[in-house]
Amino acid sequence: MRRPTLTQFLIERQRAGRINADLRLLIETIARACKAISTRVNKGSLGGGHGNAGTENVQGEMQKNLDVLANEVLLEANEWGGNLAALASEEMEDVKPTPTHYPRGEYLLLFDPLDGSSNIDVNISVGTIFSVLRAPHGPDGKPREPDEKAFLQPGRSQVAAGFAVYGPTTLLVITVGDGAHGFTLDRETFSFALTHPGIRIPVDTAEFAINASNMRRWEPPVRRYIDECLQGKDGPRGKDFNMRWVASMVADVYRVLSRGGIFMYPRDSKNKDGRLRLMYEANPMSFIVEQAGGAATDGRTRILDLQPSKLHQRVAVILGSKQEVERVTSYHG
Ligand code: F6P
Repeated sequence: MRRPTLTQFLIERQRAGRINADLRLLIETIARACKAISTRVNKGSLGGGHGNAGTENVQGEMQKNLDVLANEVLLEANEWGGNLAALASEEMEDVKPTPTHYPRGEYLLLFDPLDGSSNIDVNISVGTIFSVLRAPHGPDGKPREPDEKAFLQPGRSQVAAGFAVYGPTTLLVITVGDGAHGFTLDRETFSFALTHPGIRIPVDTAEFAINASNMRRWEPPVRRYIDECLQGKDGPRGKDFNMRWVASMVADVYRVLSRGGIFMYPRDSKNKDGRLRLMYEANPMSFIVEQAGGAATDGRTRILDLQPSKLHQRVAVILGSKQEVERVTSYHG
C-alpha cells in the first residue's frame, strides 16, 4: 500500500486552500529538523548527546547535551527560510526575531526542542513539540515588531501545531486545523509516511496518567477523581482503571491519542501555576487533542481560551478523552 508522504499530504492541504506555501514549507522544515534530532537521539551515547551540558535553561533546569543540540538544530533550520518573523524556544529566555539579512515571513514559531529530556539518558521516549501563530499586524496594516507581546496569543489562534516522538519508531503528529494526523518515519526512504490519518481519541477509556508522587499536594478535585479511579469496580466509577506515566508528555499524549485516557499535570501546593509550559506544551497539545475529538482544560478553563501573560508561563493541564476531562472539570465546580 502506497502511503502519502508528509510532503504530499501538505501539498494537498495547500491545494485545498487550508494552508499557504509558506506554512507548508515551515512544517516541512520543522519535520526535517525532527528527523535530524531523531538521528541524534538514536545514536545515544555514541552521538555525544547523553550527559549534562553543564548549563541551566531559562526555567532553571539543568540542560542535557541533547537539549542544547536539538535547540540548535531547530534554530538553524528555521532562521533563513523566509517564512518566520520570529521564533521562541522553551530553552531560550527571549524571542528571536528572524535576522534582518534574511526575509521576514508572516509566522511565529514556538518549540520545546526536547520534551521529556530527563528520560534521554535512560533510553525512554522523548520528543519535540511545536506551535505556529500568525505574526500580528499593527494599526497601519504592516507587520508589528515580533517581540514577546506578539507571541502572547491564546492557543485558539494557532494555525498549526505538532509533535514528534522519538521512540521505538519516530512519529510525527500534526494539525493544521482539519483533524490530527500521524506520520511514521520510514528509515529506508528517510521520509514521513502518513500512517495515522484522522486520529480520533477513543471515548470509552479506563486509563489515567499522572505523577502520583505529588498526590499529597493535589487540590481536592484531582484527589477525588484519582481516588474514584483507584476504587475501581468497587467505587463510584464501577470499573477498574489502569495507570501509566512515562514522564515524557509527547509519549503520554501519543498514548492518549492512540487508545484514550486522561493525562494530568495539575497545579498543586508546590507548582501553584502548574508545571507544564502553556505556550510550548499545553497549547500545541491541546490543539491536537481537540482536533482528535478530545478536550483540554486547566481544571476550569479550556486551555485554548487562556490569554497568556508571559512567554514561559506555566499552566495546569488536564487533557484526553472528552468525558473524563469534563468529569474532572466538573469536580472543580
Ligand atoms: O515538561 C517536561 C516534562 O518532562 C513533560 O514532558 C512531562 O510530562 C513532565 O515534565 C514530567 O514531569 P515529572 O518529572 O514531574 O514527572
